Amino acid sequence: MEKARGVRTERIPLGKLEVGQVLTTTLLDEKGQVLLAKGKQITRPFLERLKARGQEYVLLEILEEVEAVAATEDVPLEVKKKTLEDLQDTLTALSQKKSASIQPLEQDVRRFVKGVRDHREVVIPIIQLKKHDDFTFTHSLNVSVIAVFLGKFLGLGEEEIRLLGLGALLHDLGKLHIPQEILQKSQPLTPEEYRIIEKHPVTALKILDEYAAIGGRIKNVAFEHHEKLDGSGYPRRLFGRDISLLAQITAVADIYEALTSDRPYRKALPLFEVVEYLMGNAGYKLDEKVVTTFVSHISPYQVGDVVRLSSGEEAVVARLNPILPFRPFVRLRIKRPDGTVVLSEEIDLSRSLILTIVGEIELQSQIQVE
Ligand SMILES: [Fe+2]
Repeated sequence: MEKARGVRTERIPLGKLEVGQVLTTTLLDEKGQVLLAKGKQITRPFLERLKARGQEYVLLEILEEVEAVAATEDVPLEVKKKTLEDLQDTLTALSQKKSASIQPLEQDVRRFVKGVRDHREVVIPIIQLKKHDDFTFTHSLNVSVIAVFLGKFLGLGEEEIRLLGLGALLHDLGKLHIPQEILQKSQPLTPEEYRIIEKHPVTALKILDEYAAIGGRIKNVAFEHHEKLDGSGYPRRLFGRDISLLAQITAVADIYEALTSDRPYRKALPLFEVVEYLMGNAGYKLDEKVVTTFVSHISPYQVGDVVRLSSGEEAVVARLNPILPFRPFVRLRIKRPDGTVVLSEEIDLSRSLILTIVGEIELQSQIQVE
């Protein structure tokens, strides 16, 4: 089994430890048990005890290095940033009713679809770019990346995945026509304001029809991404299979991305609640296979994320669980009376019925962009 990557350890020979040395990191034995906590002084009896145990090496563990653990990239950051720039230019031009070439976005999608295809991992820790204002652009990019991974895990062909990625990039184009005072409103919307919001798929379709040379299947993603299986969606209240698969995939990615983001009228929901929401609507409003694929292949957590457990304790994500990505392996952060923090052994949250993640303290899966 793969070793925990949340905490880097360094193996050093016992002979390198000196009496009187104050530890700047925690010392572990080779099974990961704490021998001496950070801040403690190495004493002669301590060294002799280790020698008597036949211990030849010790492991150095540093908690700070959790920040240095690189998250597995879903799509390279520079590809995302370039796509974000092109997206901003293209969507802005289209929303001002100027003809715009979709070619730069097509090329961007081609680049990240290739990256996604070559990605070997079974579970992808999604990294979302976040922006405080003008969130339509980052939202569209994040939705597209998630949708493309979903397309791959659902077994779609490469051409289908490209259509999906491009459709998802363009899906909220119509939102650029909604007045900012409605989008940014922190109070509940009036029925009239809802009607304006519900027009955005229609607006997107009109603009794309007139100003962009793209196929109908891409346009349908924008037009149908708020339709629901039970006919409760908008704008056409379509049922079940009348909604295109690409739009249904985009819908799941869209809901996940929107609910995990702060909005003027609400804070981001905790990840476990978002997953409950998706699962609760599977087969009812959202396609069951798409949701199942989502929860079995997409991880909202990264190795190194600090989370709060239902027991009230803080824990560090040590390893992702390929069977149940939403229930990673964690290590508790135990504060000792002297103020030092040590990590417990790994706990497999997929085996624990009562211990769950209930909040996020520090996530590496969300990057703020300017
Ligand atoms: Fe939308």
